[in-house]
Amino acid sequence: MEKSGISRRAYLKGTGCAGAVGVSLLAGCTARGQQGDGSNTLEIVHWWTAGGEKQALQALLDGYTNKYPDVQVQNNPAPGGAGSALDTVIKNRVLNQNPPSTFQIWPGQSLAPYVQGNVLNNVGDSVWTQQVENAYLESVRNAAKPAGDYVAVPLNIHRLNNLFYNTDIVRQAGVDPQSITDPAALNDALNTVSSETNATPLAHSTQEAWTTLQLWETVFIGLHGSNAFLDLTSGNVGQHQGQIRQSLQQVKQYRTHFNEDAGSISWDQANSKVINGEAAFVQQGDWAAGQYEAAGNFGFQQQWDYVPFPGTNGVYSMVMDSFVYPKSNPSPDATEKFLTYCATVDAQRRFNPVKGSIPPRTDVPTDPFGPFLQAQIQDFKNSQSQPTTIAHGSAVVPEVKSNMEEAFAGFTESWNIDSTATRIRDAFQA
Ligand code: GAL
Repeated sequence: MEKSGISRRAYLKGTGCAGAVGVSLLAGCTARGQQGDGSNTLEIVHWWTAGGEKQALQALLDGYTNKYPDVQVQNNPAPGGAGSALDTVIKNRVLNQNPPSTFQIWPGQSLAPYVQGNVLNNVGDSVWTQQVENAYLESVRNAAKPAGDYVAVPLNIHRLNNLFYNTDIVRQAGVDPQSITDPAALNDALNTVSSETNATPLAHSTQEAWTTLQLWETVFIGLHGSNAFLDLTSGNVGQHQGQIRQSLQQVKQYRTHFNEDAGSISWDQANSKVINGEAAFVQQGDWAAGQYEAAGNFGFQQQWDYVPFPGTNGVYSMVMDSFVYPKSNPSPDATEKFLTYCATVDAQRRFNPVKGSIPPRTDVPTDPFGPFLQAQIQDFKNSQSQPTTIAHGSAVVPEVKSNMEEAFAGFTESWNIDSTATRIRDAFQA
């Protein structure tokens, strides 16, 4: 991958930004890469505003300001699950050479246009000391240096392929989630919940496309395995048309079991239905468990529990978050301190137990992690495959992801298998 010198057109295209912003801004940005005036205020842009996520970020920022009392934090969220609003905010600010001190981004393919546009500082020398490198898992390290230089600092590892449930409701329905072995059997269980209780069988949000995209990719792995999924995401999409259609068909079948207001609520509002007893199941990443913890009186294995999504035992679909050091930085010193802090045991011990994620450093003590996350840590260690994801940006470049989101926005309108399968195939032509 080319590190610099990419044309502005390619950068804009790569970020899905073409047409949204005006002209020759990136060229100036690339050439100058100026630092700001050395302000001590760290402006951090992120999307963690839901229950659990907000508290986790606060725990991280508290640790940071404890360690560096001379810095202030300007906490500037761009709310919207899975970065749905952050993307545009950041692209515009980077192109206007007015970036925040740091922003949240998935390591891996999402970084590609920023790296190609040469708008991120290399943090190899400042953050990634030998000691830090040794402490991180190799796969995570690699995602932080997509073109060879470290440009990001990963903070956490989420698992995407979970099926969470409200224990009372499944008990009332007489359903044993452990015995649901594949995606089709899940539909049978949803039918049973529907006939035996008044609850919504499967809480879901279709307000934004990413939730249905992630449900589809999880079903795809459940039906066809991670190797087929990895092959698909590597671009061999034409060879998997039958499997793509079958997975779409399965999601369409689940759809009859969604809450009626799926189109007008966010992911965390859908997840709240499991908490308040309106819904039996929800498919989500384990940030959903962060929300259960934050809810209070909603205890693991008491009121809620989980299984790996049916058919995905032994799979740990990874979603990571990281922070970066944009060029033209308004607060170089505070930014470097923050990124250095994100890579520490202290930061990862404070943040992850609240967030519902596990640490990417291997030397973080497990005691602060409750039984759910300790089980995830074990599952991660024992997992046979750790695929990345389309919906959370690590498996494909942003343009492909954005095409996939468009395909799924269309799917949740029309529920048309033919046209969606075609759009998925075309999404990879980017
Ligand atoms: C993911 C992100 C998680 C969580 C989730 C819901 O993309 O990696 O940390 O925030 O979106 O918004």
